[in-house]
Amino acid sequence: MSPIIAPSILSADFSYLKKDIEMINSSEADWFHVDVMDGVFVPNISFGFPVMDAIKKYATKPLDVHLMIVDPDKYIEKFIKLGAQVLSVHYEACTHLHRTIHAIKSMGAQGGVAINPHTNIALLDDVIADIDLVCLMSVNPGFGGQKFIQNTYSKTEQLKNLILQKNSNAKIEIDGGVDVLNAKLLIASGADVLVAGNAVFGAPQPLEVISKLKHCKGLSIIK
Ligand code: DX5
Ligand code: ZN
Repeated sequence: MSPIIAPSILSADFSYLKKDIEMINSSEADWFHVDVMDGVFVPNISFGFPVMDAIKKYATKPLDVHLMIVDPDKYIEKFIKLGAQVLSVHYEACTHLHRTIHAIKSMGAQGGVAINPHTNIALLDDVIADIDLVCLMSVNPGFGGQKFIQNTYSKTEQLKNLILQKNSNAKIEIDGGVDVLNAKLLIASGADVLVAGNAVFGAPQPLEVISKLKHCKGLSIIK
């Protein structure tokens, strides 16, 4: 099966946001990945509701919203009203993760959990069956264009095993430093969704990069 490709709008040109959204609309990408940062949970501020509203206005594909904020419970309803179809909160930002996931799902969105590079997969053991998507951070969250952390391959395999063991339907999303070179091995390791910011928007031919990511097959890779 082909991976779901989710270009990260954080790397778009915000002075031509509509143009970049239309480019993704016309591409082989599946979702828009929307990174919301509060300057507290991560050392950067990205954008908030008005920009999200603008994205929704022009995007013709699902919005996969990644909240890198403290106290996400306060804003879940608003983001879902603004069109988030997949909504991920950080494991590290939630005291009552099970409650938060079920709140997201009760409002009609898919409930996602993002985990930082230092967070062990085993910590999801008791909640994986409730989760629709795990966003595995392959960089420390906060910025686009960072270097991919190699340990992500083995974490992806561990997560895949946990999902199978617990009969969970959770998708595995890899976020940070994904490109056409590491995509195959990520898919071979169990990834279902690839987020790509810099690899797409920093390329001279973004549509080609999206197509390459979409059609790269994981199974032929020998590790
Ligand atoms: C990092 C964000 C990522 C990032 C991906 O905090 O969550 O989604 O924008 O961008 P690249 O692919 O450039 O690492
Ligand atoms: Zn993200």
